[in-house]
Amino acid sequence: MRPFTTTIATLLSVATCVHAKDLSIYDDSKTYAYQGCYNETTNQEDSSGVRALDGGITDVREGEMTVELCLEICGDGDTEYRFAGLQWARECWCASTLAGIAKKVDDEECDMACEGDGEFACGGNLKLSVYETSENAAGGLRTVASLGLASVLLLHII
Ligand SMILES: *[C@@H]1O[C@H](CO)[C@@H](O)[C@H](O)[C@H]1NC(C)=O
Repeated sequence: MRPFTTTIATLLSVATCVHAKDLSIYDDSKTYAYQGCYNETTNQEDSSGVRALDGGITDVREGEMTVELCLEICGDGDTEYRFAGLQWARECWCASTLAGIAKKVDDEECDMACEGDGEFACGGNLKLSVYETSENAAGGLRTVASLGLASVLLLHII
């Protein structure tokens, strides 16, 4: 049997998690489709400081960034970057490749709301909400709330 304090700590961390689930994942673009939440690579030992989305362009829009805006930035003009990623609520990263060492993590880890639209997730601390060009984009909106429900169910199993 687990000590009481451990159980309380588990309950609290799960509760915090569930609370952060009010963010939706924007997936309503005609050109880009959501791929998942990816770990930034710059601090990883084997990355040589290279970013997960490297070699393209970066734009920071404090107070204004939205997923839509980032997809516009990455898909505008002569170069349509294959990948677009949002990080730290206000950063937009465009690149032709996504580093192979960038690991896909749980959607919940992209837990920062876009500064320009608090309804949607714009990555997290060293986490990227990644989008890729797709013929079949515009899949509609998915919400992370269902994941929150999964955690709650998991809690009951534990
Ligand atoms: C995510 O990146 C950090 C470094 O920023 C690293 O320590 C960690 O192991 C990575 N996690 C995964 C799942 O790749």
